Amino acid sequence: MTSNTVFYGTLIHSLSLAELEVINNGVLIINDKGIIIHLERNVPDLNAFLLKHDFGITKIHRLNPHQFLAPGFVDTHAHAPQYVFSGLGMDLPLLDWLNTYTFPAESSFKSVEYAEKAYTKVVSRFLRNGTTTCSWFATIHLNACQSLTDIIERLGQRAFIGKVNMDQNSPDYYVETTEGSLRDTRLFIDYVNSKKSSLLTPVITPRFAISCTSELMLGLGKLAKEYDVPVQSHLCENHDEIEFTCSLFPDSANYTAIYDDHNLLTDKSYMAHCVHMKDDEVDMLAAKSVGVSHCANSNFSIHSGVCDVRRFLKKGIKVGLGTDVAGGFSPSVLDSIRSSFMASKTMKIMHRDGMTGGSKEYEPLVPSELFYLATLGGAKVLGLEDTIGNFAVGKSLDALWVDLAEGGPVDIFENDTNTQMFEKFLFLGNDQSLLHVFVQGRRVAGTATSI
Ligand code: GUN
Ligand code: FE
Repeated sequence: MTSNTVFYGTLIHSLSLAELEVINNGVLIINDKGIIIHLERNVPDLNAFLLKHDFGITKIHRLNPHQFLAPGFVDTHAHAPQYVFSGLGMDLPLLDWLNTYTFPAESSFKSVEYAEKAYTKVVSRFLRNGTTTCSWFATIHLNACQSLTDIIERLGQRAFIGKVNMDQNSPDYYVETTEGSLRDTRLFIDYVNSKKSSLLTPVITPRFAISCTSELMLGLGKLAKEYDVPVQSHLCENHDEIEFTCSLFPDSANYTAIYDDHNLLTDKSYMAHCVHMKDDEVDMLAAKSVGVSHCANSNFSIHSGVCDVRRFLKKGIKVGLGTDVAGGFSPSVLDSIRSSFMASKTMKIMHRDGMTGGSKEYEPLVPSELFYLATLGGAKVLGLEDTIGNFAVGKSLDALWVDLAEGGPVDIFENDTNTQMFEKFLFLGNDQSLLHVFVQGRRVAGTATSI
């Protein structure tokens, strides 16, 4: 007996960077595993359609005119333990910020009880904000990383989870030995894999080159190959960081080459920030199919710089958005969209006013492109483009049931088209606009009490 579910109403998703599709009177059918088995456009009468085709439907969800279904957000870079100080400590640049606020805060995750409480809050908060997939940095502590994995599994998020590696240039209260770091990373990968969950992926997570010895990075490169898992890290975020990093690895041609020289750049790798990149480095990302996590809020908040995303897109480099909690203060990818919008407009202004030394012409990102980066673009960065990111048949229903009802953060007017409603959501919506949040067809969050 088949038990399929149909959603009927406005469906909005990206087909590519350039193409946003707004489907009116759409019919989306999922099976009991949460996989999309049918997508039909412009169906004027659902009952007539279902009478004509036997889809084995047992549940029907009709969306109201001020509601639409969109793919869930993908956050390609967030630090789960840093959520405890989100919104605090925004006064210092990266290296001082790490030493003053971040390392002390992360060291508290040695306690699993402490970690459980904080991790339950942060994962719940991200789901409530529509982040159906997140790539997490945890801390160096194996037990707390395992606890984060359990919590994510229980709350139902799709996630990449990384045990952070740090064996040098770190405070004595928050550092590992090289052997301990490699041993615990292997144990952590085994732990995540033992769950046999298609929603959970372990990711090798050297914090950044400054905090990892050559020996550690070489060992992590070997583990990435042995287990065929992705690698995430930070790259070219801040001027002082770049200078210090290059001084530590004088045999490498540049910061990006350091990771490459340690076999950490594969087509499954993705790097956060990439704000200050030389042309050679951008070319290396393109050649190796390495993705970029654009963390605009963080780049402003700890004043690292303004990242030129258009430069990456023009070279065909995969780009997604990251909140970078807590360098970025917001847990919401809607904020990442808005911060990226502002960063792109800032780039436009800098080009126009001759502050970049290059062409005066610059094409800032438009809303449909920002939405692509927040969904399908992020899915590509994580190698999940065949699984999530839009409503193509065969993908998983990771989705947001957006409701712009009266009394919420977005006011809709009579003549607003579906596209205008959607753009208003991107700029004015918040967690109050999300009636239901689904991961692989399972409801995991939302303002409604049930479905
Ligand atoms: N570089 C190394 N560690 C971090 C971190 O925790 N946050 C950010 N934004 N950059 C980093
Ligand atoms: Fe980060």
